[in-house]
Amino acid sequence: MARAAAFVALAALLAGLGAVTAVSGVAGAVASGPATHPPATGTTQTPLSVWSGVYTAEQADRGAPLYEVECGECHGPSLEGGETAPALAGADFRWAWNGLSVGDLFERLCVSMPEGRPRALTRAQKVDVLAYMLRENAFPAGDAELPSRGSRLDAIAFEALAP
Ligand code: HEC
Repeated sequence: MARAAAFVALAALLAGLGAVTAVSGVAGAVASGPATHPPATGTTQTPLSVWSGVYTAEQADRGAPLYEVECGECHGPSLEGGETAPALAGADFRWAWNGLSVGDLFERLCVSMPEGRPRALTRAQKVDVLAYMLRENAFPAGDAELPSRGSRLDAIAFEALAP
């Protein structure tokens, strides 16, 4: 008996709460305007991708010898891949990263490459190697260097196909 009464009381309380939140929800929507705000990233800007010219030729030139010394042994002198290490250029590589970001790729280098001694290169050097990898994948060079800030690299989409 007591339990049944408590249940009824609880149900009434919940119903009351529901009514209150429904009302305040309406009030909130009215106060703050339409609920569909545009995403904070801003869709009006042209989205950046690897096809936008996001590194410079000089930067890729700086990355080339670093690649040769620190990566080529495993990934092949022409980024074609080796016995255990995958290719870092070509269609398979591009499709493997399609839909991710250059930031994701950079993160991969920062965390684990060169394999076994990821501290062998500084962040700036890894960005140069990344620029070289982009060039070897036939993505166009541009006027500005690839930045080393993770948040800015995250904003560059990795797309296998030219838009
Ligand atoms: C000692 C060998 C070795 C060296 C040196 C090395 N890698 Fe790797 N790398 C590997 C192996 C093995 C894998 C695959 C296993 C894994 O994902 O960890 C790999 C995976 C990767 C991947 C992920 C590829 C994909 O599509 O999933 C990237 C990117 C990469 N390496 C970049 C580099 C770069 C850039 C350097 C030089 C700074 C480097 N690696 C140096 C062995 C190496």
